[in-house]
Amino acid sequence: MTAIDKKTLIEKRVNEGLRGQWYPICKSVEVKTSRPYGTRLLGEKIVLWRDGAGKLRCIEDFCPHRGAPLSYGEIHEGNIGCRYHGVVVDGDGVVVRVPAMPECALEGRKALTSYAVTETNDAVFVYIPSVDQPEPPELVMPDVMDDDAWAGFLCTSVWEANYRYALDNLADPMHGCYLHAESFTLAFGSKQDLMKLDKTEHGFRIERVGQTGANFDWTEFEVYPGDMFCFLEIPYPAAAGPGGVFRIIGFATPMDEHTTKVFFWRMRQVEGLARESWRFLYRAKMEKTHWDVLEQDRVMLEGMPDDARKREMLYQHDLGVSRIRQVLTRAAKAQIEAELKQQTVAAE
Ligand code: FES
Ligand SMILES: [Fe+2]
Repeated sequence: MTAIDKKTLIEKRVNEGLRGQWYPICKSVEVKTSRPYGTRLLGEKIVLWRDGAGKLRCIEDFCPHRGAPLSYGEIHEGNIGCRYHGVVVDGDGVVVRVPAMPECALEGRKALTSYAVTETNDAVFVYIPSVDQPEPPELVMPDVMDDDAWAGFLCTSVWEANYRYALDNLADPMHGCYLHAESFTLAFGSKQDLMKLDKTEHGFRIERVGQTGANFDWTEFEVYPGDMFCFLEIPYPAAAGPGGVFRIIGFATPMDEHTTKVFFWRMRQVEGLARESWRFLYRAKMEKTHWDVLEQDRVMLEGMPDDARKREMLYQHDLGVSRIRQVLTRAAKAQIEAELKQQTVAAE
């Protein structure tokens, strides 16, 4: 394996999405005991459901008989039955029954990959193992999520763009006062600034030098062995009702190389009665504004060519963009090296 090949593999891994990660895949309410939920993660088709005990299950969305999508099927006693010829598979990917054929040898065979799956804060997370991290590490969530003083809503959206664009966008606070200039809260502050980047305990913080607390002025990324997320804050005018600043927590899930599912928790520190009035106000009025802002991001990122990176000319504001790319590349390098090492050992 030449150095060039390794570099290509690393670049490919970054583009497709890191393995060895927990990724949010959908809202908890979308996975039911009554019917399967099919989706894609890192280019793989997967299917989720809840078994008889309500436990989340996730396996490849591929019938071991002839490859029909299991997500077109039905749930029978906690297992999934293929719509095509009725083969039943359990949550471990083992064929439980072949109804069309008595005493079929396929029964009892482990035929499919199954994935670790969990849920927290209204979202379902799936773990994609890597060679260097086959077992799922702890899924670390932002600390405000365990804090009763904070309340929030989860919103998700599918963007037809590589997930790296979503991360780059989040690592780029400077776009706020341009792309979102017309919006409710993002029109404030100056349109010229420098950026600075600081290391934090678990990642980094990218922020505007000249202003803070005026607009989308900073983002922090936290990177753990099993997941990665970012958060930012948007100051709110009094018209936004009771409570403190508005915190947005973001995860970007690579569905495949050209599609990203973004997960944003919109959190506010509000307690007691104020909490109820904020929730009401949010649903009644502000949610629409936030969707409008997200749509501006979506349209912009979807309009950029897949290979924009090859021609871009970064400047000082792109410190955060460079850093997040470095984080991804380093992690991908470790994964590819572990895979190459495993292949060498296997070949010996
Ligand atoms: S393809 Fe699924 S049962 Fe035949
Ligand atoms: Fe934005």
